[in-house]
Amino acid sequence: MQSVAVEEIQQELPILNVENLSVIRSGKIVLKDINLTVHKGEFVGLVGPNGSGKSTLLLAILGVLKAQKGKIDIYGNRPLSRKLYGRIGWVSQAAANLPREVRITVRELVKLGTLNANNMFSWSDNGRSQRVDQAIKMVGLEDVENIDISRLSGGQRQRAVIARALATEAEFILLDEPLVGMDRNARNSLLKLLDQLCHDSGKTILMVSHDLTAIRQTAHRMVFLEEEIRFDGPTETFPDLDELAGLRGIEPVHGEAHSHQHDHSKED
Ligand SMILES: Nc1ncnc2c1ncn2[C@@H]1O[C@H](COP(=O)(O)OP(=O)(O)O)[C@@H](O)[C@H]1O
Ligand SMILES: [Mg+2]
Repeated sequence: MQSVAVEEIQQELPILNVENLSVIRSGKIVLKDINLTVHKGEFVGLVGPNGSGKSTLLLAILGVLKAQKGKIDIYGNRPLSRKLYGRIGWVSQAAANLPREVRITVRELVKLGTLNANNMFSWSDNGRSQRVDQAIKMVGLEDVENIDISRLSGGQRQRAVIARALATEAEFILLDEPLVGMDRNARNSLLKLLDQLCHDSGKTILMVSHDLTAIRQTAHRMVFLEEEIRFDGPTETFPDLDELAGLRGIEPVHGEAHSHQHDHSKED
């Protein structure tokens, strides 16, 4: 019973806690005093103009870039901690641009996601095939699972990469512009899939996108970043484009604190 209690306490811990984070790249402040807390099951949309530090924030969370100031906790651990192994999935902007000369099928690619330092040389399957099946099914690529990834469309390839992240059983999935290069249908079905992952599978998602319309359809919460966080609040309180222009360069506005009275009900 004790382990149950411990697990419950762990679930109350935020998945991500970023405190006063500043990151400098090439001598220039890219992120300044970022505070961000993400809880289990949230779908957070991270938006902001080009060069505003969105990818930098994800890379800092992953531990690839070092913080100049502040701290980052993921499940109560520092980035790159061994305890985080397999718990974080990352789908990059470049996912759809996997090199064409790599000859690998969808299934093989997804299976790579199930390999780790512990099982790489193990003969036993340990449910890996089942996880691969499940992941492929979740992204709807069953029909092309034995096809070379080079023959897929951009949208399909993006899904294959997401399936690989799912096969790792990552609980916290970071996506950097996954919608780039996808047509409307592929985009909508990917958003629907991500939404299901949050609601039905208890995954937590932090997704960068510059496609405001698309991300607002799905994210529960929006964060607008431009060196600093200028907005952080429920999606229904996210300002419209005119106000957004006004927000840039002025004090951050918090959705919880200011209840904006905008009618977004006709926007869908
Ligand atoms: N490899 C790098 N080295 C130095 N500066 C970089 C590098 N990559 C990005 N930057 C700078 O960091 C800032 C934020 O970039 P980035 O996080 O990629 O923005 P976004 O993802 O929001 O478009 C930009 O000013 C960019 O020029
Ligand atoms: Mg970027």
